[in-house]
Amino acid sequence: MTQTILSAESAVQVCIEANCGARFGVNERLYTCPRCGGLLDLVTQTDATADELKARWTARLASFAAQDHSGVWRYRDLLPCDESAIVSLFEGNTPLFDAPRAASFCGLDALQLKHQGCNPTGSFKDTGMTVAVTQARVLGAKLLVCASTGNTSASLAAYAAQAGLPCAILVPEGQISLAKLAQSLDYGAAVLEIEGNFDDAMRVIQELAADPDVYLVNSINPFRLEGQKTVAFELAQQLGWRVPDHLIVPGGNLGNSSALGKGFAELYNLGVIDRLPKITIVQAAGAAPLAALFAAPWGGKTRAANDFSAAQNDAYTPVAKPHTLATAIKIGSPVSWKKALRAAEWTGGGALSVTEQEIADAKAIIGRDGVGCEPASATTVAGLKKLTAQGLIRADEEVVCVLTGHVLKDADYVINYHRGELRSGTDLLSSAFANRPQRVAASKTAILAALENK
Ligand code: F0G
Repeated sequence: MTQTILSAESAVQVCIEANCGARFGVNERLYTCPRCGGLLDLVTQTDATADELKARWTARLASFAAQDHSGVWRYRDLLPCDESAIVSLFEGNTPLFDAPRAASFCGLDALQLKHQGCNPTGSFKDTGMTVAVTQARVLGAKLLVCASTGNTSASLAAYAAQAGLPCAILVPEGQISLAKLAQSLDYGAAVLEIEGNFDDAMRVIQELAADPDVYLVNSINPFRLEGQKTVAFELAQQLGWRVPDHLIVPGGNLGNSSALGKGFAELYNLGVIDRLPKITIVQAAGAAPLAALFAAPWGGKTRAANDFSAAQNDAYTPVAKPHTLATAIKIGSPVSWKKALRAAEWTGGGALSVTEQEIADAKAIIGRDGVGCEPASATTVAGLKKLTAQGLIRADEEVVCVLTGHVLKDADYVINYHRGELRSGTDLLSSAFANRPQRVAASKTAILAALENK
């Protein structure tokens, strides 16, 4: 793992391709490298020592000032930051829950769930959106846009509204949950439902973003990932500046796993933590191009950092027709796959896929701990169960799963599972952990009898 850290004041954008490495100013409106088309990293630096940073970040927990209270801007020493432009909804500060039932479901002694669904718009996207919309303000953007499976759009709609900036979102028609659509409508976004899937929307939105007044806030935008990397900082802080043995993350467009890898790498290079958690990315089987690249969960591939060799490019194949009921991660051609691969490799992690049935059952179990999440998030517990069953994670290892979205994001899925009516195409999934609602007469005797039966 090699990652140089420069100062927040002198932040630069750097192409991640080893044979390019071109550098650009922090306020150049770029999404990919203009020289080679590679993805860009934001590289920041601080003169502070690890102890100074930890002391500052702890002191800020007691402050209600927006830039301290936000679980993202609290860590602004490692962010490109113009404090006067900050657009915040007090994102971050998400809980780390004990999940004993999910732990025993997975064959572990203990398990913790970092619930990013507790963000203001109900998903992890808010931690990145606060930074991207702040940068839009710095750049004087006139219109903010994104393609989305629903959560990015809900988040953009909220932050753009807070900033008083217009936004337009592109979503695949009929393929996102109603709750997410409802959020975007309520926050006043121009909602454009397109024929096609997320990958089509992503392609078109990049064409739109060529206009200098338009600002694209998908996770191809490195500012988004800067915000999302702070989840690594917050998690380490919650654990007393330690990291778990394993961090399990869902994978869709692969921005989140990339950001977490970068966040932990920065803490490690600064000496704030003394080791890295192994990051494992879990994709739905019908939309799993990264998992396919890893022959086995731990991959066993080695290469020099950032050397995305031709062989590796050739080995990677996008999925032409992605499918999964976890609509948030129904993505066949994730834009950040190289950064996600890098995160897995830096940390000694990997990637794997899980079936629709595995996701549905894991989701119900997460509910049983009183936590709950949307289907995409449940890939983590489903993947973890497979890894423990294969002996790749031991019962006594410390594991944190990142839950990315709130249980109410996709209520239809939840109801269908518990009624035993969840279908994947024509296949009826089994509902082993169903909690079926019962019709009862409005009498005390009938209610007591129903409870007796249960
Ligand atoms: N979980 C949820 C709930 C999501 O909404 C997403 C992505 C992911 C996981 C995957 O994260 O893309 O960083 O690998 N949702 C995007 C959207 C694509 O448009 O809302 P990723």
